[in-house]
Amino acid sequence: MKLLDALKWRYAVKKMNGTKIPADKLDNILEATRLAPSAFGLTPYSIIVVEDEETRKKLQPAFYNQSQVVDGSAVIVFAAWTSVTEKEVAEYMADIAEQRGVPVESLNDFAGYINGSLKNLTPEQATVWAAKQAYIALGFSLVAAAAEEVDATPMEGFVPSAVDEVLGLKELGLTSAVALTLGYRDAANDYLVNAKKVRRVNEKLIIKK
Ligand SMILES: Cc1cc2nc3c(=O)[nH]c(=O)nc-3n(C[C@H](O)[C@H](O)[C@H](O)COP(=O)(O)O)c2cc1C
Repeated sequence: MKLLDALKWRYAVKKMNGTKIPADKLDNILEATRLAPSAFGLTPYSIIVVEDEETRKKLQPAFYNQSQVVDGSAVIVFAAWTSVTEKEVAEYMADIAEQRGVPVESLNDFAGYINGSLKNLTPEQATVWAAKQAYIALGFSLVAAAAEEVDATPMEGFVPSAVDEVLGLKELGLTSAVALTLGYRDAANDYLVNAKKVRRVNEKLIIKK
């Protein structure tokens, strides 16, 4: 499917049919998600992939019992770092050095620039900043899922502290920012399956100067 056709095909599915996504499709969606850009390239979040049915059942109440959590095939939780310190920046520099084959010392200015930009953020501000980066990854997942003809429902309708508890995110220095369920639409039972897509009209949405 062409990209625009795929984006018109996708919608936020309310009722999924329990069919499992093939592993290669899930891998492709995750790889596209990994390729999302982030500020400085720091990627201040982790992507938690929950396919296990028992864990999804435990998550469902934290998602206000939204059915897609269990009727889908996977729940992806985009979990923001709860603090961003020089340690994480140093780890990122080590990754660049290794993956680009450059001496880590050659990255000192870059590291200093990142640390200087982030040092005045409170932990709360750092988490909000990290969550913004995570939302870009969510966007990439949504587009990639559509390209793979896999249905996806983005979700903010959950209690972050409850999701964090089920997944043990606090211990990992993470907190849930936004989520996505992946699966296949239950066309016979989803009231939105044939609903016309509503978006603000171009004249209001796109302001040309
Ligand atoms: C960040 C975000 C959070 C959302 N949270 C939920 C949610 O918790 N449950 C749900 O069913 N839909 C959720 N939606 C789906 C939106 O309602 C939907 O994307 C929007 O109405 C546009 O419709 P479409 O995606 O079907 O084109 C969310 C969408 C976004 C982008």
